[in-house]
Amino acid sequence: MKFETTTAAAEKIKTELLVLPLFSEEKSLPAEAKKIDAATSGAIRKITSGKDFAAETGETFVIVEPKGLAAKRLLLVGLGKRDKFDSDALRSASSAAARLAKKQGLREMTFVGLKIKGVSPELLGKALAEGAVVGTYAYDKHKTDRKKSAALGAIRVITPHAKAVKTGGAEGLITGRCVNMARELVTDPANIATPAYLATVAKKIASTYRMKCRVLGKAEMQKLGMGALLSVAKGSATPPKFIVLEHNPKGAKETVVIIGKGLTFDAGGISLKPSKGLAEMKGDMAGGAAALAIMEGVGALKLKRRVIGLIPASENMPGGNATRPGDVVKSMAGKTVEVLNTDAEGRLLLAEALTYAERYKPDAVFDFATLTGSCAATLAHLATGIFGSNERLIEIVKDAQTDTGERVWQLPLWDEHREAMKSEIADLRNISDNFGAGASTAAGFLSFFAEKYPWVHMDIAGSSGVPKLHRGFAKGPVGAPVRLMLNLLKNKPLK
Ligand code: BES
Ligand code: ZN
Ligand code: ZN
Repeated sequence: MKFETTTAAAEKIKTELLVLPLFSEEKSLPAEAKKIDAATSGAIRKITSGKDFAAETGETFVIVEPKGLAAKRLLLVGLGKRDKFDSDALRSASSAAARLAKKQGLREMTFVGLKIKGVSPELLGKALAEGAVVGTYAYDKHKTDRKKSAALGAIRVITPHAKAVKTGGAEGLITGRCVNMARELVTDPANIATPAYLATVAKKIASTYRMKCRVLGKAEMQKLGMGALLSVAKGSATPPKFIVLEHNPKGAKETVVIIGKGLTFDAGGISLKPSKGLAEMKGDMAGGAAALAIMEGVGALKLKRRVIGLIPASENMPGGNATRPGDVVKSMAGKTVEVLNTDAEGRLLLAEALTYAERYKPDAVFDFATLTGSCAATLAHLATGIFGSNERLIEIVKDAQTDTGERVWQLPLWDEHREAMKSEIADLRNISDNFGAGASTAAGFLSFFAEKYPWVHMDIAGSSGVPKLHRGFAKGPVGAPVRLMLNLLKNKPLK
């Protein structure tokens, strides 16, 4: 998709689709809309004052061949109430317009770039571009009868601030593409998106952006003593991989490590999950998918930081050689773990990556994982649960969510949560003894492996997908926390 700007008058622009965003419950039309209203002999006012269009967020109303305009179609799209506005209203509007354009087979659309208080020209461009890219995403590669429909090739914005809107637009195209990349990997079935497949994706990113990529196989993991990760892979015939991607720009002053849980299918192991909803567990690598997509973004945005991506990848299957509940395993950190529930496997993978991260002497480490049903039950799809011991880094994450369309919510990680993860017969246990607070005790377990650097854990079990169309995203995976992390990595000083 291309992103352009123009200063031409909206009435005179020859476009397949002229898109006019409007707030709901407004007494008067904004200046940009007044001109279109005048050119169409009051059509806008008529529509907005009747019952046809309430301008609720993402609501649309199309006029075909509008009299007085050079555009072939005029689309009114809602931004909701002005006092509830955030940049996500723009994303939803752009997503709705783009979906409509795609359905009609249109090649381009032109947005009237409203002036909105608190929205910089950059943010306007970014949100519109991102909305269009995520809005037109569809997963149809396994449909043998899929039509090669014409793609929406360009989005244009009418604005006097060409440079800034274009800068934002270019960034939005990239972040939107990265988000879609994560969504696709999460939807890819587990017989395709195997640990080895994730490694080939990492290698491709490395070759596109001149990053370094190393993929550790079982033998190398054994040599390093990654017994916790290997214990998860034991029940599966599909070999595990530990993927390392290094973005090492010259002159980088800070090092950030990002870690994504790459569990390509979570059957639960011997602590087998029930069959209802089991197919969804192909998406248990959403953290790993996000880490790969973030590395793609780091490369495409040419970020100046040193960013290391680690993806411990494995299946969790029952099998004759699978880990038994009660088994004790030894992690690379030297800590022993009593595996009381083989379905609490994500923390075993992350523990190894958190230890591996130490070798980079990082200024900050972030991990992303579909870790607990508990977090999903608490926050649903509305926010990523964040945990950590370093309040400064937590604040940086909270701050980085601003204007990204993503939400985080801090949940507690207290000493009691850590204590609950100590075993009677080994150093740690992988589940508590009915302590409750499952998302926090999981974070407590991880914290024993993340003691050498500032660290934030993000539980995306709920936020990695939406159950129905939500904020411009169709049902399914949404690529959390790609937008938030790219914003953080791009803009936020860590020292
Ligand atoms: N991958 C699951 C968590 C999950 C559940 C993600 C639902 C998305 C939706 C994780 O490996 C798991 O099974 N966690 C268990 C931990 C429990 C055994 C302590 C859980 O949350 O039930
Ligand atoms: Zn599990
Ligand atoms: Zn899992």
